[in-house]
Amino acid sequence: LMKGVVLAGGLGKRLEPLTRITNKHLLPVYNRPMIYYPLDTLVEAGITEIMIVTGGYCAGEFLRLLGNGSECGLRDLHYTYQRGEGGIAEALALAEHFVNGDRMVVMLGDNLVEQSIRPHVESFAAQERGAQILLKEVEDPRRFGVVEVRDGRVVSIEEKPAHPKSNLVVTGIYLYDAQVFDIIRTLTPSERGELEITDVNNAYIRRGQMASRVLEGWWTDAGLPETLYRATTLVRERELKRRHAARPEPVTA
Ligand code: DAU
Repeated sequence: LMKGVVLAGGLGKRLEPLTRITNKHLLPVYNRPMIYYPLDTLVEAGITEIMIVTGGYCAGEFLRLLGNGSECGLRDLHYTYQRGEGGIAEALALAEHFVNGDRMVVMLGDNLVEQSIRPHVESFAAQERGAQILLKEVEDPRRFGVVEVRDGRVVSIEEKPAHPKSNLVVTGIYLYDAQVFDIIRTLTPSERGELEITDVNNAYIRRGQMASRVLEGWWTDAGLPETLYRATTLVRERELKRRHAARPEPVTA
């Protein structure tokens, strides 16, 4: 069984004052709260057991919004709470009991994708063990985890480098086996005081157990004013396209 974990902790400081009185992942992206999009992506990929890791001041609002997840097509939803913002890897560690030795798809709560991730989940399910990251070429790699590729393989990842070695970055969708929790236990906080997901991924690379695939379609985060706006634009365009496609063809003689 493949579990799903959506990470929606952190304080969203880069969106102040929008995040002063609410959690970043409850902010609107076009016509729905941000958290709906990663949830939909997991459900669409066939994941039925999902935990949301939340944090900050308004954690109760997730329950109020999502309830038991039936609106997303789930039988139930699991929740846990991260105190403070100790990093993405710290948030993931809180899901260990829920994951219970299974494999998992982890998705950052502020990441949105255009297309299905089902093919990637299936390829990971066929992988013997280890992890898989999904990559995307971007114009501003310095904001992300940037990969160095040699002979078609990812040989290292640098978190927010001043001088990126490529334009290929690690998106916030990670596929892991249960080793990930042992790896997280070995980590120490970075300069920004967080347990970094990039350190987790580099540990898998060192073990020779990291696969990577390039994501099709658009991908964006929504953690900055500019990217929150971009996310709304992209989702809106997709919605309009879908509505247009669903409209019956006009009758012609
Ligand atoms: O969006 C992809 C990028 O996400 C990757 O390329 C980077 O390698 C990765 O480090 C991350 O970068 P950010 O610095 O943009 O991540 P941010 O701190 O904005 O956190 C992203 C999400 O992770 C956030 O929406 C909720 C969750 N999170 C984050 C922190 C710091 C938590 O659940 N708890 C936390 O303590």
